[in-house]
Amino acid sequence: MKERISALLKRTPSTEIVTAEGWVRTKRDSKNVCFLEVNDGSCLKGLQVVIDKDTLADQNILSAITTGCSVICKGPIVESAGGDQAVEMASSDITLVGECPVDTYPLQKKRHTIEYLREISHLRARTNMFGAVARVRNTLSYAVHQFFQERGFAYVNTPIISASDAEGAGEQFLVTTLDLHNIPKTEEGKIDYSKDFFGREAFLTVSGQLEGETYAMALKNIYTFGPTFRAENSNTKRHLAEFWMVEPEMAFCELDGNMEVAESFLKYLFKTVLEKCPEDMAFFSKFVEAGMEQTLQHIVETPFAHMTYTEAVKELERHNELFEFPVAWGSDLQSEHEKFLTEVVCKRPVIVTDYPKEIKAFYMRLNADEKTVRGMDVLVPRLGEIIGGSEREANLDTLIARMQQLKLDPKDYWWYLDLRRFGSVPHAGFGLGFERAVQYITGMGNIRDVIPYPRAPKLADF
Ligand code: 4AD
Ligand code: MG
Repeated sequence: MKERISALLKRTPSTEIVTAEGWVRTKRDSKNVCFLEVNDGSCLKGLQVVIDKDTLADQNILSAITTGCSVICKGPIVESAGGDQAVEMASSDITLVGECPVDTYPLQKKRHTIEYLREISHLRARTNMFGAVARVRNTLSYAVHQFFQERGFAYVNTPIISASDAEGAGEQFLVTTLDLHNIPKTEEGKIDYSKDFFGREAFLTVSGQLEGETYAMALKNIYTFGPTFRAENSNTKRHLAEFWMVEPEMAFCELDGNMEVAESFLKYLFKTVLEKCPEDMAFFSKFVEAGMEQTLQHIVETPFAHMTYTEAVKELERHNELFEFPVAWGSDLQSEHEKFLTEVVCKRPVIVTDYPKEIKAFYMRLNADEKTVRGMDVLVPRLGEIIGGSEREANLDTLIARMQQLKLDPKDYWWYLDLRRFGSVPHAGFGLGFERAVQYITGMGNIRDVIPYPRAPKLADF
């Protein structure tokens, strides 16, 4: 394999001729020498290629090279005379692979706004910022698998097309091949899904949890990591209609064990990025969110705070004048409340537990008070909720009663209820919104900038 630029930059100077392939970020010309900065995405920095014009075989090539061109440069790695880098390439052998017309190339040398870059998402990975986001995201994906594999969790692929509503919230995208201009109807005038592709109603999944639970009841500890879809009309900086979720599920595990795994998991992710992406993290600290590296380091070293929903509401009620939506016991926590709890009250990540059953999903274990459930949300500064999870209701009758209260038909969930009939056991799990994690770690303000092609209400370009 040819060496990437990240490896070339670590070389010690020698006479060996090496090859660098990449895209020209900048070109600086003087009378006798030309400087190209060539980047191949392997790291933030590019390789400086210094060309002594007299030694070039093809004298016309330099005039054709502009920002954005793809090139292959050959030459020795030498000590750099300039201050910005330790080494550079001295080259007299340049191949222009693909040219890039200056007048039509949408990425100019100047700094572009993030909104403009969103319109050219197919090119934005070529900028420093989006290259860094892509590398951090990649490192995080690998770290997710490492964390769970090192602990003996089995990776399970749950379906993307699902017949059940895992969150019971009715925010699903319908998957159909019915002709919308000629929808088949039943005798009662309802849509006849028996004529549809799957012979029934089917949706894009909102979570792999329910199917994940079935495998946890066999393999004990499992995790899923896949795309999830929500048709919620949330035009915010932390919601996507298509996002990736990591969902571990553990049998013989209660809420305490669940919280422990969630905390060590987040800390593992933060630590890994600090170790593996120091250059990109320094970039984010400098240009995106001041002190992000120190913040993450501090989090890794400090235990998370804990409070129940009831305690949280008591704290919030004392400051109700600060909120757009004042809280009272029973109200769902909005992002402003979540941020207040973690940023002002706790000044660190906090795990809030035992929410009123009315504001949480049907599958959460009911507490003895019959008012609250064993749910947990992990809240972090700047973002609010990053993880949502719970201990699951393992008692068949209680679970059926909860479904009926919420107008869910137990018949639709027959296989899920079977888990409570056959060898039921306390179990728990959670979901980490993968983009929320990338967003938090990089400090990026908008979740749409941490996934290559964001999907949101009225947005499905590319
Ligand atoms: O809290 P949520 O809805 O929990 C579940 O889906 C459970 N089934 C998880 C489980 O227990 N296995 O979602 C989990 C996380 C949230 O904390 C948030 O980080 C993220 O998924 N999330 C979103 N991220 C981006 N855009 C959205 N629309 C999101 N909705 C949830
Ligand atoms: Mg949630």
